Parts: sequence; C-alpha cells; structure tokens
Amino acid sequence: MPNVIVPNPESYFRQFVPSQQGVLKTIEKEAAQEFIPIIGPVVGTLLNILAITSGAKRILEIGTAIGYSGIFFAEACKITDGKLTTIEMNPAHADRAADNFKKSGLSDFTEVLNGDARDILNGMAESFDMVFLDIDKVTYIDLLEPCHKILKNNGLMITDNVAFKESDEFNQALKAHTGFRSVPLYAFLPDHSPEYDGLSFALKRES
Ligand SMILES: C[S@@+](CC[C@H](N)C(=O)[O-])C[C@H]1O[C@@H](n2cnc3c(N)ncnc32)[C@H](O)[C@@H]1O
Repeated sequence: MPNVIVPNPESYFRQFVPSQQGVLKTIEKEAAQEFIPIIGPVVGTLLNILAITSGAKRILEIGTAIGYSGIFFAEACKITDGKLTTIEMNPAHADRAADNFKKSGLSDFTEVLNGDARDILNGMAESFDMVFLDIDKVTYIDLLEPCHKILKNNGLMITDNVAFKESDEFNQALKAHTGFRSVPLYAFLPDHSPEYDGLSFALKRES
C-alpha cells in the first residue's frame, strides 16, 4: 500500500501544537500584538527536549527578545542543573525578559546580558554545551566563528530562520566549515514566526 499523507497536513498538525499557560501564554499574546517574532510552542518544545536529552548545562542564547524561547531553555536547565545565558541588544526587551524569567520562577537559572552579541562574544571566556542563534539574519555570518570558538567539543549550535534569504551566506559558510557537522531542516512549524522556515543543527567536531 502506498504511503499516503494526511489530507490538509497543516490543519492536521495544528492539533498537536502544545498549548501554553501562564507567562508563556502571556508572552505569546504580547508578541502577536507587538509583532515580536518568537519561536512558538513547537520549536520551543523541541529545544527544551534537545537541551534536556543532551544534558546541556551551559546554554547560550543569542537573541532573547522578551524571554519566550529563553523560558524553554531555562525550564530544561532546572532539570539538567544548568544555566542559560541569553544576550539581547534592545535594553527594554532585556528588562522584560528578566522580568518574565522572574515571574516564571526561573531567575536562578538565567542570566540576561544586554548588548551587541558581537561585542559580548568577543570577550567571553566561558564555553557552552549548546548555542541558540536567533538575531538579525545578516549578522549570523559574523557570529559563526565566535560561536564555534565558545562551543565545547560535540556541542550543538542551533540556528533559527535559516530559510530567510539573508541567511544564505551563513548557510553556505556553515556547510563549508570543517569544524562543524551540520544539517538544515526546512519544515512547517506551526506558530513559529514564520510558519514555513528552516532551522539548522550543527555539531562542533572534536578538535
Ligand atoms: C527573533 S528575536 C528573538 C526571539 C526569541 N529568541 C524568542 O523566540 O523568544 C531577535 C532579537 O535579537 C535581538 N538582536 C538583534 N541583533 C542583535 C545583536 N547583534 N546582538 C544582540 N541581540 C540582537 C533583537 O533586538 C531581537 O529582540
């Protein structure tokens, strides 16, 4: 019997979108009203699962906005006994993220750094198990080498919005990078901004 895809896969898969409560639900509403792009509950849950199953203790997020994706990572850190460091250039967003982490009871698992990630990464001595890159796409290319440097061997870099045209230079450089083994995934991502987009997963090779 041939494999048959369900009719209307978009509406079919919407029934499986995990619904959120509390602070995450409030952020979803605020993000929609204020046009703040967020990863949404499907990608959020995926990142939370990856962080927990890989036992990531030190997680770096680049592009906090108001803390939506950060809450998924920080919840994972509660389980792995880890900590999320998250970088945001916009001071008002950084303050709101810190407030949202506090309201979620996650302050002990989070550190919000306000500034341009390009400057902050230059001076960073620490190394990380997982890096999540989610800022302006034209800037991704500037952060490829710094992210490679701060990742531990076998650490994972996850990059959002790699289906954006502006991500092409980054995607090509990542493919050619001998220090990473990587794969992009293009998918229907309900409630992600936007819903058809790509994420890439890059493992830092042992050096
Ligand atoms: C797509 S939003 C992040 C969404 C967030 N990860 C989420 O899903 O909840 C991108 C954020 O990156 C910030 N940003 C852009 N360029 C940056 C840079 N060079 N350094 C730090 N933050 C930056 C923007 O201010 C914006 O809040």
